[in-house]
Amino acid sequence: MSRVIVFDTTLRDGEQSPGASMTSAEKREIARALARLRVDVIEAGFPAASPDDLEAVRAIARDVGNDGDSPPIICGLARARAEDLAAAFEAVKDAARPRIHTFLATSPIHRKHKLGMSRAEVIERVRDAVARARELVDDVEFSAEDACRTEPGFLCEVLAAAIEAGATTLNVPDTVGYATPLEMDRRMRTIRANVPGIEDVVLSVHCHDDLGMATANTLAAVGAGARQVEVTINGVGERAGNTALEEVVMALHTRQAFFGLETGIDTTQIHKTSRLVSTLSGMPVQPNKAVVGANAFAHEAGIHQDGMLKARQTYEIMRPETIGRPESELVLGKHSGRHALKVRLAELGYPLDDDALEATFARFKALADRKKHVTNADLLALVSAREEVGSGVFRLAGLDVRCGTGAAPSATVKLLDPAERPLAHTASGSGPVDACFRAIDEIVGVSPRLLEYRVHAVTEGIDALGEVSVRVSGADYDDKAHPQWDDATRPRVFHGYGADTDIIVASAHAYVAALNRLIAAEPALVTAKAS
Ligand code: KIV
Ligand code: ZN
Repeated sequence: MSRVIVFDTTLRDGEQSPGASMTSAEKREIARALARLRVDVIEAGFPAASPDDLEAVRAIARDVGNDGDSPPIICGLARARAEDLAAAFEAVKDAARPRIHTFLATSPIHRKHKLGMSRAEVIERVRDAVARARELVDDVEFSAEDACRTEPGFLCEVLAAAIEAGATTLNVPDTVGYATPLEMDRRMRTIRANVPGIEDVVLSVHCHDDLGMATANTLAAVGAGARQVEVTINGVGERAGNTALEEVVMALHTRQAFFGLETGIDTTQIHKTSRLVSTLSGMPVQPNKAVVGANAFAHEAGIHQDGMLKARQTYEIMRPETIGRPESELVLGKHSGRHALKVRLAELGYPLDDDALEATFARFKALADRKKHVTNADLLALVSAREEVGSGVFRLAGLDVRCGTGAAPSATVKLLDPAERPLAHTASGSGPVDACFRAIDEIVGVSPRLLEYRVHAVTEGIDALGEVSVRVSGADYDDKAHPQWDDATRPRVFHGYGADTDIIVASAHAYVAALNRLIAAEPALVTAKAS
């Protein structure tokens, strides 16, 4: 059976979503999870973007790129410029199977407004960049950015030039999510019929979801002969996101008789990888998200439940265990022991070592004292919160809040600083959360902009665990007020996550986690007073 190559760009295009930026250690953890998922190619980043990005890609190339008998290809993105190609090579060269992915925009809109280049100049630049990349590595991918708004004849000329210069994979991105499935089918067939040498290279597709058609367009391209799909976990990515890996993989798996194609993906790793990316990127998965949403396998309507009890296939086209989703919803409670917790967390994709288990068990007990039934969703929130809290430099050590109809809201917060010294401050605010955040700002010595504050009840019921996610930035984040900003100068956004039955406590944990990320990336923001 013919094979579709799965190229994951969670760590490059996915990381470009505002607020999804991750630390180098987090990127490595995701790369390891992608290797367990058995993706064929990991696009680990854009090394020319900054020295940190280069180092993060290099670390993945050395570690994940050499792990086991058949490690994934490790790929670095490069604009069609000598300095970018050199940075990409430096970053991926230590992988057993390095790839350089270079790109140049080809559409008339980009040629005129962004590049100021003629058609002939575009072709010349593509030839140069691909040839230079081929001097560095054997595996070179070329992308014609905004291919789906490029004149088909010119697109074929550019792709032919890339093949002549030595490209081994040709990627057709729908950069702005503009295409429809029928157009994608035609475009791919046109390329296959008109580009000399196309049968000797891999034809690839890369879609964005601006009109909600990324998965449909990707599958249309596959139907028309594309044999590499560029995807991200949970569909994270620029604007409305990229094509979701889990959707394409499960469509090819579930409808194998229709497509007649297979991937190398271990589908039982999908659920865990989705959770991990959601936690580390701070991008929650919507409950009704295909394949990995909380409700993707929940049957609420009476008629559906009746059908399911008679024969599951009446309403179920995939089994939850195929994507590694634990079927057991048996709740744990205050009498459950360490072993039960350890086994359940391992089923949920969180095998914990003894120290981590001990810390999580203490938090589980505290929760079980306040909440009668602890569900899988509660446990996932607990472990996610553990990772956030544990990775910080400041830690929440105490919180006392005053609020109500008669009193001005105030909060006294106690934090442990990186040297474990207790620091406390009392502040007032427009509400208890505002007061709490102001007290934390005062202790840490930063004045960030709070861009987003979101509270969500993990389960039903008055004793539900509240999950809080926040996004902060070190400076004013208003694009309209700063038209000169580009990707390199726009302030970075950092997220934090917290979970507790007390939502003010959860909010404080989330805010401290976000500030820890902010000050790790931008230590200069901390005022002298607190440092
Ligand atoms: O969307 C796009 O065009 C890209 C390219 C760099 C492949 O991400
Ligand atoms: Zn993209």
